[in-house]
Amino acid sequence: MTIQTKTPIGLDGVAAAETALSHVDGEKGELIIAGDHVGRLARSTGFEGVTARLWSAGSGSAITEAEVRARLGEGRRRAFARLPQLLAAAEGLSVVDGFRAATACLRAEHGLSDDAVIVGALPVIATALARHAKGDAPVAPDATLSHAADTLRMLRGNNGPTPDEAAALDAYFVTVCDHGMNASTFTARVVASTRADLFASITAGYCALTGPLHGGAPEPVLEMLDAIGSEERIVPWIDAALTRGDRLMGFGHRIYRVRDPRADVLKAVVEQLGASTKQLTFAAKVEAAARAALAKSKPDRPLDTNVEFYTAILLDALAIPRQAFTPIFAVARAAGWTAHAREQQRNGRLLRPSSLYVGPQPAE
Ligand code: ACO
Repeated sequence: MTIQTKTPIGLDGVAAAETALSHVDGEKGELIIAGDHVGRLARSTGFEGVTARLWSAGSGSAITEAEVRARLGEGRRRAFARLPQLLAAAEGLSVVDGFRAATACLRAEHGLSDDAVIVGALPVIATALARHAKGDAPVAPDATLSHAADTLRMLRGNNGPTPDEAAALDAYFVTVCDHGMNASTFTARVVASTRADLFASITAGYCALTGPLHGGAPEPVLEMLDAIGSEERIVPWIDAALTRGDRLMGFGHRIYRVRDPRADVLKAVVEQLGASTKQLTFAAKVEAAARAALAKSKPDRPLDTNVEFYTAILLDALAIPRQAFTPIFAVARAAGWTAHAREQQRNGRLLRPSSLYVGPQPAE
């Protein structure tokens, strides 16, 4: 086989699969999820609704929002029943790593689809680990609540969310539930393409999500805001970071050449929440300074705000602990991963790219 020497390293612009699930237009700054614009979707649909659309498109057989709600409630209930076993796998690990270990222990259950076992279990695992890190016992799920409301309730215990807070997390879940062929979705599809099961696919997808260049960015965004500390330090701090060659977390994207549309959706959600106005004003100033500094330091490479910047502000406003940010992202993205894995299993070929060999040739 001839390997094309022009193959873009990093696979920029390479179509790895056909999908009916989501589309990112990086030039226009548009994201379509299951046939609708992300902004409209976040205002009009909850997580169960968008998951119904994704699962229907991914599996090729229609499933209603009510069925998704019932299955996710049952998935949360079953995961809680198995929690001692799941938490044992996570013992001694950080929340991010423990989530990986516990997720890897999920398995097929009688009478519930694999996607519902997985997506139902993830908030139970994430919230139990976050509470365990503080020495608190896990809180049992309430299958009558929405996935988002129950996530916040399991996290907080008695001090459950207000309706506005539950709606804000629901809007976040919808906004980040799927995003084209991002690194974690690609990973999940590669695994599914080998005909491995959904549990293997989603565990692998989560592993790819944890890196700071992908879903691990929100915690460092807050660390950056903390390190900057005050308005007069914004410009010198950013200049020093760029001079050192550091990347500013929450900025830049492989596909978007303009602002990530999800940043605006999430900024509006934080504003509506009415919480932490001081933090939001400070963050907006850091954002403006960072965009200006990036435009100056990389004039040929448009680098704008990505989803992770306002994810950090929103999850912080919802009092979600920083260590749980990536697992909470995974709770939402698992809707997309499971749909992509099913779509790959139905329509896809084994994903097996080539590499460019730059090592030594054997001696003649
Ligand atoms: N801050 C400073 N410089 C940056 C940034 C940034 N945030 N992003 C890219 N650059 C620079 C690179 O260092 C590179 O410089 P060079 O040409 O001098 O080497 C140049 O811009 C081009 O960068 P690429 O590596 O081509 O960008 P790529 O498409 O591979 O990276 C990525 C995209 C990983 C998101 C990058 O912008 C980044 O690291 N951002 C910060 C981390 C982050 O916010 N991650 C979350 C992304 S959203 C998500 O995954 C859910």
